[in-house]
Amino acid sequence: MSKHAEGLTANEELQVEGCHGSDTGSCLEGEDNNKMDAECCGNHVSDSNGNVPSSPREWLDPSHQSHVPLVDVDKVRCIIRNIVRDWAAEGQKERDQCYKPIVEELNSLFPNRCSKSPPTCLVPGAGLGRLALEISCMGFVSQGNEFSYYMMICSSFILNQTQYAGEWTIYPWIHSNCNSLSDSDQLRPVSFPDIHPASAGITEGFTMCGGDFVEVYSDPSQVGVWDAVVTCFFLSITAHNIVEYIEIISRILKDGGVWINLGPLLYHFADMYGQEDVSFIFFHIEMSIELSLEDVKSIAFNYGFEVENETTIETTYSTNPRSMMQNRYFAAFWTMRKKSVAGEKHST
Ligand SMILES: C[S@@+](CC[C@H](N)C(=O)[O-])C[C@H]1O[C@@H](n2cnc3c(N)ncnc32)[C@H](O)[C@@H]1O
Repeated sequence: MSKHAEGLTANEELQVEGCHGSDTGSCLEGEDNNKMDAECCGNHVSDSNGNVPSSPREWLDPSHQSHVPLVDVDKVRCIIRNIVRDWAAEGQKERDQCYKPIVEELNSLFPNRCSKSPPTCLVPGAGLGRLALEISCMGFVSQGNEFSYYMMICSSFILNQTQYAGEWTIYPWIHSNCNSLSDSDQLRPVSFPDIHPASAGITEGFTMCGGDFVEVYSDPSQVGVWDAVVTCFFLSITAHNIVEYIEIISRILKDGGVWINLGPLLYHFADMYGQEDVSFIFFHIEMSIELSLEDVKSIAFNYGFEVENETTIETTYSTNPRSMMQNRYFAAFWTMRKKSVAGEKHST
């Protein structure tokens, strides 16, 4: 999540309840994260001539400090929390809440997977790629789609540069000054990844596709390509126009294909009307369509979906498991099937 100079985004409201800023609340990425500022790559190690200061005290000299916009600092903090969610042992509980039901549903819907003709599955808003990887390991041709450079760079690093499980260590909660039970909780190291991705059983059909979901999958080449589309904490959180998302998901699924979704309806752009988003180069107004669950299902019905399975799942999102504050979502979990044209004709 990013903080905007003019106010808080909708997703940050939960954080503010317990503690201001990017502390221990949820950390849901917004849309405005696809610009990698040159400033973001600045660091505090060298001066503008590339010279490394000789003593740490020199770093205090303001001339050695690059200006990193707070919005970028927040994004990096979010990525760090997402590393825990996707790739640390500490995130296992959250992965069991969110990813396990999806994986089990896929397993039961596609029981006879064979390597000669594997089913295809798309994961829009794949974040750091763990769910897409798990799906690949199940024998699907799996593609994660992600438009944040921050996420893409980090997932590429974990997936491609890791030599063994637990190779890297971070201190993900060190910036969180609220709701710690002890100093050691706040300062604790977390190693990642919990598995070695290259030995996890990824099939040949595992890819991460960079780009905006709407732009990439509106392409005519995508029509009727996928057996399954899996959206986890993606649908409302990233959409300006949720109807457009549903339309695209319907279009890219094969007849009889399934859409599995897990997440709340936490519209990222809600309540932002009239606010000027200064993180963009140009001032403009963010707008979105915010529908109830009932309306989302009714729209999906109009795009040819029928609900096969529906429940509520209680879960956290990138939450510090040892924090005194634990925000919970009662996330909608559903499986919808795109009615096959032949089936429709048959039933009429
Ligand atoms: C709340 S995160 C969820 C990530 C992951 N699915 C999970 O459950 O941890 C939403 C993700 O969608 C990505 N995203 C947002 N808008 C997108 C778009 N239009 N196209 C592709 N990815 C997008 C964000 O960068 C972010 O990584």
